[in-house]
Amino acid sequence: MRRALYPGSFDPVTMGHMDIIRRGSSMFDKFVVAVLLNPSKDPLFSIEERVCMLKEACVDLPNVSVDCFRGLLVSYAEQVGASVIVKGLRAVSDFDYELQQAHFNRQFAPNVDTVFLATDAQNSFLSSSLVREVARLGGSVEGLVPAGVVQRLQGKLAPRE
Ligand code: PNS
Repeated sequence: MRRALYPGSFDPVTMGHMDIIRRGSSMFDKFVVAVLLNPSKDPLFSIEERVCMLKEACVDLPNVSVDCFRGLLVSYAEQVGASVIVKGLRAVSDFDYELQQAHFNRQFAPNVDTVFLATDAQNSFLSSSLVREVARLGGSVEGLVPAGVVQRLQGKLAPRE
């Protein structure tokens, strides 16, 4: 059984991520989307919220599961029996960093390969940080994130009395 791992911060999941999840999951028997629990970052959404938004967005993808992890990615990949790490590439500027990570991960886990998927061109500008900024500034994020995320962003960023 070919099991792949798609890791990220997903703060929050975007339509760019969903494009990679849909296309990536069609290539493997099992596709694990894994949210990094990173204590050194100060995310907008809690780990529970990010996992929940991903689960809602992936409900129609039967071979996709959503989990969270802490520590080294390759240790988690081995723990869940994933032989492939999937990464999305939006632009050449992503490649330097991603290639460095792929080399690092391969050094520690030679049996785990990294596979890059080019994002759909229409998502090439899209990132979680851009979505957070647009939402914070009162812009519309409809179509940039799954519907459930639009609502959660509005709830999270609504001005409080
Ligand atoms: O969505 P992001 O923030 O670009 O995802 C980055 C992620 C989670 C894929 C990366 O930071 C990662 O793999 N972190 C786990 C810790 C680790 O293994 N670090 C060494 C790999 S360079």
